[in-house]
Amino acid sequence: MNLFSPIKLADLTLPNRIVVSPMCQYSADDGCPSNWHLTHLGMLANSGAGLLVVEATHVERIGRITHGCTGLYSDDNEAAFARVIAHCRRAGTAKIGIQLAHAGRKASAQRPWEGGGALTPDADPWQTIAPSAIPFGAGWHTPRAMSEDHIARVREAFASSAKRAVRLGFDSIELHFAHGYLSHEFLSPISNKRTDRYGGSLENRMRFPRETVQAVRAVVPKGTPLGARITGNDWVEGGLTADDAVAFAKALKADGLDFIDVSSGGITADTRNPTTPCYNAPIAERVRRESGVATCTVGLIVTPKQAEALVAEGKADMVALARAMLDDPRWGWHAARDLGAEVPRVPQYLRASPKLWAPAAQRAQA
Ligand SMILES: Cc1cc2nc3c(=O)[nH]c(=O)nc-3n(C[C@H](O)[C@H](O)[C@H](O)COP(=O)(O)O)c2cc1C
Repeated sequence: MNLFSPIKLADLTLPNRIVVSPMCQYSADDGCPSNWHLTHLGMLANSGAGLLVVEATHVERIGRITHGCTGLYSDDNEAAFARVIAHCRRAGTAKIGIQLAHAGRKASAQRPWEGGGALTPDADPWQTIAPSAIPFGAGWHTPRAMSEDHIARVREAFASSAKRAVRLGFDSIELHFAHGYLSHEFLSPISNKRTDRYGGSLENRMRFPRETVQAVRAVVPKGTPLGARITGNDWVEGGLTADDAVAFAKALKADGLDFIDVSSGGITADTRNPTTPCYNAPIAERVRRESGVATCTVGLIVTPKQAEALVAEGKADMVALARAMLDDPRWGWHAARDLGAEVPRVPQYLRASPKLWAPAAQRAQA
């Protein structure tokens, strides 16, 4: 069984290759996770996945996507996370990672269920920042082009949030370098039109995310896996391609990353991702083969059979699922049952294991 074989990332051993993909809940208060997160993450810590990645958690206040996004920029944020993490460790079995992010020009937005566009003047919007003063799309805020001082400030904010994540005892840390957020905005020629050392050539466009990795790696112990979610394709003419993803992964490996998570899309408001099953897997396969970094992929992976095949065929070392996990928060349990494997369970739920479950006829007599 490939999906249910263990994997080691730095000093962390995961019992299987299933990852709960980070999912914003837009339910925080000035960055502090709430009771919603106790329920949501507590539930997914019992999904059977080896690793549960906490939603995009922003490294500064203006780096949040919405007023409801989580952050790790204050002592209050850290204390609120401590409560949520302690709960998940008591209530579930998954190892717990966190995704650290900065939304760049996609910040100051409405929650998806409030429209998902830019915050209106009456909704406490803020000045966004980006490599260049180009909005994400029509009707979006025009970001301020970042000075080198801004760049240094955000890089240090990543390191400071990473220190908090280490103090909180997260098992792994993932940097969000995809989906059109700040680091992706630096990497993509679509959003980065700078003429200084942070723009132009791929080497220059990689500079900000690479400096971020170096600053974060310096504060995250070697034994704690550090990874990044990167863009496999911008899905737009003139944008990033799989070749760029391979080059980026190789550079990040040299900077000390332990794993790469291949996603794609989101660089402008009018780009669309493919809708075919496992659409990022062919790119992940190339990244994995050519960079030699442990690789996760995500994107329309729905059935246990698909997930098992991705690992068995060497397309990825791990698979991340988002919507399928919301649909079935015991996805990992059910995948194990279908594929004849077992998952860790909390003692309270042990009797639900198919191995311990008496046949229906016996139960009827009891
Ligand atoms: C409710 C929701 C919130 C999401 N929030 C994040 C996030 O915080 N960080 C991230 O990298 N991706 C986020 N995504 C994208 C997912 O992690 C995943 O990459 C995408 O949904 C494709 O995977 P799927 O087909 O398994 O849903 C989110 C997706 C959903 C549905």
